[in-house]
Amino acid sequence: MKIEEFSLERIQSLYENTVELNLSDSGVHPYSLNELLDADERAKLMDVELGYGWTNGAVELREDIAKLYRNRSSDEVIVTNGSAEANFLLVMSLIEPGDEIVVFVPNYLQIFGWARALGATVKAVQLREELGWTPDLDEARKVLSPRTKLMSICNPNNPTGSLLSRAAMDELVAIARAQGCYLHADEVYKGSELDAEEAPSFADLYEKAIVTNGLSKAMALPGLRIGWLAGPAAEIYAAWQSKDYTSITTGALSEHVARIAIQPTRRAQILQRSKTILRENLALLTAWVAENSELFFFVPPRAGGMAFLRYGNSMNSTALVHRLREERGIMVVPGDAYGLDGYIRVGIGTPHAHLAEGLERLSDYFKSQPR
Ligand SMILES: Cc1ncc(COP(=O)(O)O)c(C=O)c1O
Repeated sequence: MKIEEFSLERIQSLYENTVELNLSDSGVHPYSLNELLDADERAKLMDVELGYGWTNGAVELREDIAKLYRNRSSDEVIVTNGSAEANFLLVMSLIEPGDEIVVFVPNYLQIFGWARALGATVKAVQLREELGWTPDLDEARKVLSPRTKLMSICNPNNPTGSLLSRAAMDELVAIARAQGCYLHADEVYKGSELDAEEAPSFADLYEKAIVTNGLSKAMALPGLRIGWLAGPAAEIYAAWQSKDYTSITTGALSEHVARIAIQPTRRAQILQRSKTILRENLALLTAWVAENSELFFFVPPRAGGMAFLRYGNSMNSTALVHRLREERGIMVVPGDAYGLDGYIRVGIGTPHAHLAEGLERLSDYFKSQPR
């Protein structure tokens, strides 16, 4: 099986740890254990038994995750190594060669790439910038066929930070239900909504929804590598069977800390920290775009740790990203990685001073270029 390069991840893997100012992350500046846990909790870490545990995730952790949804049991949840493994297991257990799937793009392109590698037909429906990076659902209706097995959306969206309205969510569910297909939603940015209440989960709206989530983005704990799938028990069981062939289980220490993090009060505190960081940084970015309006345009993100900026010269975005890194010591993600040249993705979950310095270098670079 041949798989195309996951260029979004590859370019970050190569440079994010060596560049001076990394603005390529999509999440929120991570917690340390010291910041997250109190003294008692830290002491108790020493007693965690480093066994395999349940390969689909500790029962108590699955129960706690199930409580994030309405009427879900622990059998409808599998814990994974990051939401990346959740997406991987979903594709491996559900998609077969010849299946047809519909993916709303731009999107974190993991499902897109894996499904194609497996021999599925992947149809894309564009999110429209003029609609605040949301889809025209009539376009989805048009591409669906009786062979469509699954629709996949990232909500809140990577890379644009857009958010579906409740009406659009209901409409999408109605489309999936009429078709009888699965609806997959990657909801790893859920909980970081900046101007709205936390959006409902598709898992609470549709019996054939399967959702990906985890602690890496809105929850600012990417190093735990804890993600999950929630959905119908049979499909979750099938994903567990695929997990036997991949990582077997998640780490016992990570599961222990994850349980602490998702208790309702702690989860609310973590999300509040994320929103405070993101709101302050979004205000900075908005002011900077206004000052540089001849160079940049953006639809402000409504959730998540990133903004998707259109820039006003004809340089290819990948070439631009390499120049910025080599000449100015800053790293952003090229729109190319999403098939959208002429854009860059800028992380807004970093410490404020870091973002301020990065943006200054970015506008300085553009001002130095012939237009
Ligand atoms: C939408 C989305 N899903 C999944 C992932 C994978 O994240 P992780 O495995 O760290 O949870 C990412 C990472 O950027 C993402 O943006």
